[in-house]
Amino acid sequence: MLAALEAQARRLAGTTIAELIAADPARARDFALRTGPLYANFSRQRFDRVALDALFGIAEQADLAGAMRKLLDGATVNPTEGRAALHSALRGDTSSAAIARDARAQAVAAQARMRELIEQLEASDVTDIVSVGIGGSDLGPRLIVDALALPDARFRVHFISNVDGNAARRTLAGLDPKRTAAIVISKTFGTQETLLNGGIVRNWLGDDSRLYAVSTNAQRVADFGIPPERTLPMWDWVGGRYSLWSAVGFPIALALGMDCFLQLLDGAAAMDAHAGSAPLRENIAVWHALTAVWNRNALHAATQAVLPYDDRLKLLPNYLQQLVMESLGKSVKLDGSAVGIDTVPVWWGGAGTDTQHSFFQALHQGTQVVPADFIGVLQADHPHAQNHAALLANLLAQTEALANGQGSDDPHRRYPGNRPSTLLLLDALTPQSLGMLVALYEHSVYLQSVLWGINAFDQFGVELGKQVANSLLPALSGEGEAADAVTRELLREFNARR
Ligand code: F6P
Repeated sequence: MLAALEAQARRLAGTTIAELIAADPARARDFALRTGPLYANFSRQRFDRVALDALFGIAEQADLAGAMRKLLDGATVNPTEGRAALHSALRGDTSSAAIARDARAQAVAAQARMRELIEQLEASDVTDIVSVGIGGSDLGPRLIVDALALPDARFRVHFISNVDGNAARRTLAGLDPKRTAAIVISKTFGTQETLLNGGIVRNWLGDDSRLYAVSTNAQRVADFGIPPERTLPMWDWVGGRYSLWSAVGFPIALALGMDCFLQLLDGAAAMDAHAGSAPLRENIAVWHALTAVWNRNALHAATQAVLPYDDRLKLLPNYLQQLVMESLGKSVKLDGSAVGIDTVPVWWGGAGTDTQHSFFQALHQGTQVVPADFIGVLQADHPHAQNHAALLANLLAQTEALANGQGSDDPHRRYPGNRPSTLLLLDALTPQSLGMLVALYEHSVYLQSVLWGINAFDQFGVELGKQVANSLLPALSGEGEAADAVTRELLREFNARR
């Protein structure tokens, strides 16, 4: 794969995006796809039709269509942990395989329980919900609630994730424990941050009757003091960072209502159907994954920006950092051998137009080319028409300026251009369209993992730091010494001055 991609990149090395478009004006339309409310335009990437042929050849060789089927049918796509990754079964009937149908039935039963618990809470005098979780048990719900919750919602939903006690202190300040319910969300119910923050919230509530849990581990939940009637299930076949569609989305359903939560799932299911059945060249997830691999392995881009031009999507980059980098930050293939090719670049970003006034200077004139996903929402949900026109003008302008650049005799005022981007557009920001967008990224990530031959569903890389942190806890209270010489010296400094 690498040799084929590098050969294409060498062939195109002297050709700019502007030249590619001038030579093939139809690409603006031909390199664009739509499914439902989601439109994607790849014409400002640095590939041409010949390079695309090579990319789709690689996609066929890697059997991306078969790989999608395997995912949806519940094959063991996570072999290092011996698991399927059936997040698609949480949102629709995308497979007739027995394992997927069984997962679907469990998901539907859990949705019915969610609805009951929501109705009970709606009938109470609870006004605020505190959601305690971290990583996949926090980022998805936080993103969706921030994007879609309305100011007049039945519940205000708050999130505590960081083990820094300031997070709990600040979130709880101003809330009334008698009118607050809390949900402790943890797939394992063994995560240090969540157990500590859950303990703070449990004490603060004073009354356990408004404490809920979402977990795979019923025993640990019971030991924590939350009874089964207030515990919602999770399953091994859902990865943490793919779990917002499960009961991990309980805060979403509380903030938006259960019907909206189900619409979010419908949107994701529509993307499952598209990614699972559209031919490769009409498949947005496949285009997105091939573009990622092109930018990483043909152009050797070290980072990838994600730039939502909608303030409601400002948390999308944080969410995608876990989804993409925890899934694809791997150096070995499924069989344990070295991957031999660069895998995930660093993903980063922020909301336009704010970021135009922070890091866009580097995107336009820095020495590193940063491929970017620009995301726009066409219909405004507010009455400020001039603002919306300005927002869309900026979105269009930036993709154009980055691609085309501008010459000047003054090197300081010269824009090199030739900086690739993909434009993703939603007709409007609705539960359905947001569900589709997030599911698009999930499937793109999985397809990238197939192209690289790596496991997108384990995350052993995060374990070592957790183990070392646990082993250092006694030394922080002055008991025992750290084994590492630098850590020992740092602990002396910590303990002398705190
Ligand atoms: O950061 C590592 C991780 O295991 C993530 O994969 C996961 O989403 C997060 O911790 C939280 O885990 P849990 O839901 O078990 O508390």
